[in-house]
Order: sequence, then structure tokens, then C-alpha cells
Amino acid sequence: MHVNSLSYVLVTLPLFFLDGPFTVFLPSNEALTKIPSEELAILKENVTLLREFLEYHIVQGAYFSGDLKDGQYLTTIHQKTPIRVGVRVDGCYRRLVEANNSPLFKADIPTKNGVIHVIDWILRPSDLSWCEGVILP
Ligand SMILES: *[C@@H]1O[C@H](CO)[C@@H](O)[C@H](O)[C@H]1NC(C)=O
Repeated sequence: MHVNSLSYVLVTLPLFFLDGPFTVFLPSNEALTKIPSEELAILKENVTLLREFLEYHIVQGAYFSGDLKDGQYLTTIHQKTPIRVGVRVDGCYRRLVEANNSPLFKADIPTKNGVIHVIDWILRPSDLSWCEGVILP
């Protein structure tokens, strides 16, 4: 499995099983090449983990920067585990700048069925475990 096929699957997968628009947090090619090789090897072998990885980058509904507030949680299709987004105000516009701890590479790429945000790192359900049960401001 090449990292490019991961991107391809992420962008096309929702078309097959989601009704309506969706948001994909797509790791850049550079982000995917930064995945440690041991972790990539495990992803190749463990289909459950691969599925978890893919699902955690997909959100039902199209969320553009202008629809988001700083600190908002978006519900992924992976057991409704949330992603926390960081948004900055830029003049009269809101700009998505972060998803969990990953900086945005390019936000708001419209697609036929929603929107893609390209991120500089991958997202993991465990990203937010440090604040589990804690109500953030
Ligand atoms: C595969 O990944 C899942 C989800 O993280 C984990 O629960 C399971 O134990 C893993 N299976 C193997 C064979 O490592």
C-alpha cells in the first residue's frame, strides 16, 4: 500500500457509504510520508486499524472555515469520536488553522460532495485522550 492510495481512499470512500455532503481532513503527501514505517506496517496488516484511521479523518456534513468556531468539535464517522478545530479570524473571514494538533496546509477545497481540508499531520483518535472528560473553555 502506497501512501498515495491512502489519500485516494480517503477522498473516494465517503462517496460509497455516506448520504449527503462530507468533510475530509486529508493528510498531505508529506504528512503521510512522515508516518513512522512501523506504524504504516501495522496499518497495512490490521484492517480494523486502517478503517479506524480512515474513518477518523471523515466528518459527515460540509464544514468550511466560515462555518466553524475556534475550539469547536466535529464528529467523525469513527464512533463519533470528535476532532477539535482551531479557527482564527482574518479580517472579515474565519480561517481554519488547526485540526487536533495538526496545522492546516490548505483549507476549504470544495468538492462535488463537500469540502477537503489538507492537513500537515495525521489525526488519531488518541489525540484528544489527554482531555477526556474535561470541559474545555
Ligand atoms: C487491530 O487494531 C485494533 C484497533 O486498534 C485493535 O483493537 C486490535 O487488537 C488490533 N489487532 C491486532 C491483531 O493487532
